[in-house]
Amino acid sequence: PDRYAVIGNPISQTKSPLIHMAFAAESGQHLVYSALEGPLGQFAATVDQFRAEGGKGLNVTVPFKLDACAYATDLSDEARAAGAANALKFEGERVYAQNFDGVGLVRDITHNLGQPLAGKRVLLLGAGGAARGAILPILREGPACLFVANRTVDKAQALVQAFRANGAGDTLQGGGYEALAELRFDVVINATSASLSAALPPLPASAFEADGLAYDMVYGKGLTPFLKLAQQAGVRQLADGAGMLVEQAAEAFAWWRGVRPETRAMIARISVPLV
Ligand code: ATR
Repeated sequence: PDRYAVIGNPISQTKSPLIHMAFAAESGQHLVYSALEGPLGQFAATVDQFRAEGGKGLNVTVPFKLDACAYATDLSDEARAAGAANALKFEGERVYAQNFDGVGLVRDITHNLGQPLAGKRVLLLGAGGAARGAILPILREGPACLFVANRTVDKAQALVQAFRANGAGDTLQGGGYEALAELRFDVVINATSASLSAALPPLPASAFEADGLAYDMVYGKGLTPFLKLAQQAGVRQLADGAGMLVEQAAEAFAWWRGVRPETRAMIARISVPLV
């Protein structure tokens, strides 16, 4: 069977083998998918070996997403814009890189959560790799505005400038958290790493629209301080990154195998209650 894997460090927490093996079973695809712990600083050597053993593709997680971009010969627009890749495909000497995190996020919001982004006011918190990967897919939906807020204001401004230089219009705005004082958003997405340490970005509760959506990209942390703030602000719809995780996996699976698996049952299976 064709071999695939997810590479990261640490990797024991990964749900990717469970998700991809279930996709394979459901779609009748003959493949094996394992978890690979890449020694730090040895991404290229580990991937070289995986390819030499016949590996067809990899998902890439922390801390190797930048290394994956550097390793690739061909970058998708999303991977280039994010400066990070979360999926690789090997074909002879070519190494194709994709970043499906953003499309997975958008698909979860628009399809699974039923919130079209067209015409909406969207707030994205953070300016790291996770935020950068989400920008093109969100802009493609045609929001009324996409505001990127970051603790380090320079990083938000540099990010906005870089995307504008590549064709993003003034739908894309950026600044610090203090700029949010007078603004309200239909959809607020937390792409900071704050929830991983139970921290809260300095976001005013007034930024949430009550009939909107608050989305935390982290998965499996329950009601994070960000989601709690949104709940207290009366936001009706709260979500964590379970759907994004499964949707980006489905995108990678379709890219490798030409078949897009069903995602709903898997999202239900891996979801952790938001309490
Ligand atoms: P990732 O690849 O997950 O995006 P990253 O590139 O390290 O990780 O970026 C982390 C993001 O979370 C940054 O935008 C960071 O803000 P700064 O650029 O100001 O450092 C943001 N972040 C992390 N902890 C935060 C906190 N407690 N409050 C607000 N923002 C936080």
